[in-house]
Amino acid sequence: MKKFTSVSDVKNLQEIIKKALQIKENPHSETEKGKGKTIGLVFLNSSLRTRLSSQIAAQNLGLNVLTLNAAQEAWNLEFADGAVMNGDTVEHIKDAIEVLNQYCDIIAVRCFAGMKSKEDDVNESILSQFEQHAKVPVVSLESATRHPLQSLADCITIIENWKKDHKPKVVLTWAPHIKPIAQAVGNSFAEWMQEMDVDFVIANPEGYDLDKSFTKDTKVIHNQDEALKDADFIYVKNWSSFDEYAAMPEVKENWMLTREKLENTNAAKVMHCLPVRRNVELSDEVMDGENSIIYQQAKNRIFSAQTVFSEILDEINSK
Ligand code: CP
Repeated sequence: MKKFTSVSDVKNLQEIIKKALQIKENPHSETEKGKGKTIGLVFLNSSLRTRLSSQIAAQNLGLNVLTLNAAQEAWNLEFADGAVMNGDTVEHIKDAIEVLNQYCDIIAVRCFAGMKSKEDDVNESILSQFEQHAKVPVVSLESATRHPLQSLADCITIIENWKKDHKPKVVLTWAPHIKPIAQAVGNSFAEWMQEMDVDFVIANPEGYDLDKSFTKDTKVIHNQDEALKDADFIYVKNWSSFDEYAAMPEVKENWMLTREKLENTNAAKVMHCLPVRRNVELSDEVMDGENSIIYQQAKNRIFSAQTVFSEILDEINSK
């Protein structure tokens, strides 16, 4: 694997999931693979799971880990090409990436959507600069439009929890939130589910349809009860409007996932990438109930990251 920023960087998804499950069985089987090599984990935004699971994954492979919480610890970055830097910004992102090239064998970066310019976000204005200027493999730790390490962990979790011989029905359902949230997790989950052998539908209120370039032919239902019927997996996630970019059109119905809503399902397992707003996105009863596989999903972030780093190290070590 040369880089990892979307599902298109994975040659064979079934093989990658199989490898991740083997790594989960024996996470210390490749402790020499990253010896003498360094991964830089650059966070332009907050994180709990991604930061810690990536660190564990890298350490399990023997990699040296440099973590930079850039928003708090680094110089104030300039992102605009040709900027006259006589204001608040101190270091251009191009120069920062060139320096990271000197220190790192892999650069992993978290760069959320700014939620101000749809064009900038759709075009991945920050991730694209890493892809352009990095001379080493780039891994996305969540970008403006995708969260591929999360999606791989989600796929691993679904496979672990599905032992029946028919296709599971997987529903990605929108949930309420108090502020505008990017579409990255929803977009990414949709892309990865299209590569899985599942019956996938998306449920969201009118005005909240995701970007069609991610949902493609996936069925989108604007009635949550109808969508949840006979579901085997329910993925709960908020996102703001894509069409009316970053807006939060009014929703009259209650879309919070409750225990009552699970009654109409096939004893559905409940997923969420975390962090979650309890009793806003889903109820305490659901979060703490027996249908929740949310902490297992969080644990699988380690094996998702470790599999990706391992595949990238194979490519580096083959040169
Ligand atoms: N799910 C996820 O990416 O969590 P963090 O934002 O805490 O990394």
